[in-house]
Amino acid sequence: MIDKARENARKGNYRNVEFRLGEIENLPVADNTVDLLISNCVINLAPNKKRVFEEAFRVLKPGGRLLISDIVLLKKLPETIKKSRTAYVGCVSGATMKNEYLALLKDAGFQEVSIIEEAHFPAETIIAEAAAEGVGSSKTFNAEEIASSIASVKVCGVKPK
Ligand SMILES: C[S@@+](CC[C@H](N)C(=O)[O-])C[C@H]1O[C@@H](n2cnc3c(N)ncnc32)[C@H](O)[C@@H]1O
Repeated sequence: MIDKARENARKGNYRNVEFRLGEIENLPVADNTVDLLISNCVINLAPNKKRVFEEAFRVLKPGGRLLISDIVLLKKLPETIKKSRTAYVGCVSGATMKNEYLALLKDAGFQEVSIIEEAHFPAETIIAEAAAEGVGSSKTFNAEEIASSIASVKVCGVKPK
């Protein structure tokens, strides 16, 4: 991905961009150097979200902003779905409860934390597949009902000056 991004930047003659390989829990960026941090659908996959938000806070400049698009839960998932690999790679079972997500951001030090957009995440197929993996358990799942408790959100926050 990094090679492809560099190649595309070269082809497009974009000289003001740089691509660094890293983990979201260990950003390859110095403290207090970033104006704006964006992320799309990655944090739900990180088991240690507290660490991710602390890293975001570390690298942002005072007054720097964060804008994240991610998946959160409005209700807890059934255990079978929670344990499903399909649901994990589908950005469902690694997601945390919406209120916990916002609390983690605030605990990391962010202010003005708010959800600026919230939409239904169409996870019905992922849930149905994950439920099918759990066949053998006596439980039956209503994919639509479970999917209705999963949301796609855009969240913003500011590192205080
Ligand atoms: C659903 S994709 C989103 C990709 C991209 N942000 C986009 O909008 O198209 C999730 C991405 O997160 C990456 N990822 C998962 N865990 C990560 C971690 N701990 N640190 C950095 N990237 C991670 C995966 O490799 C994958 O590329």
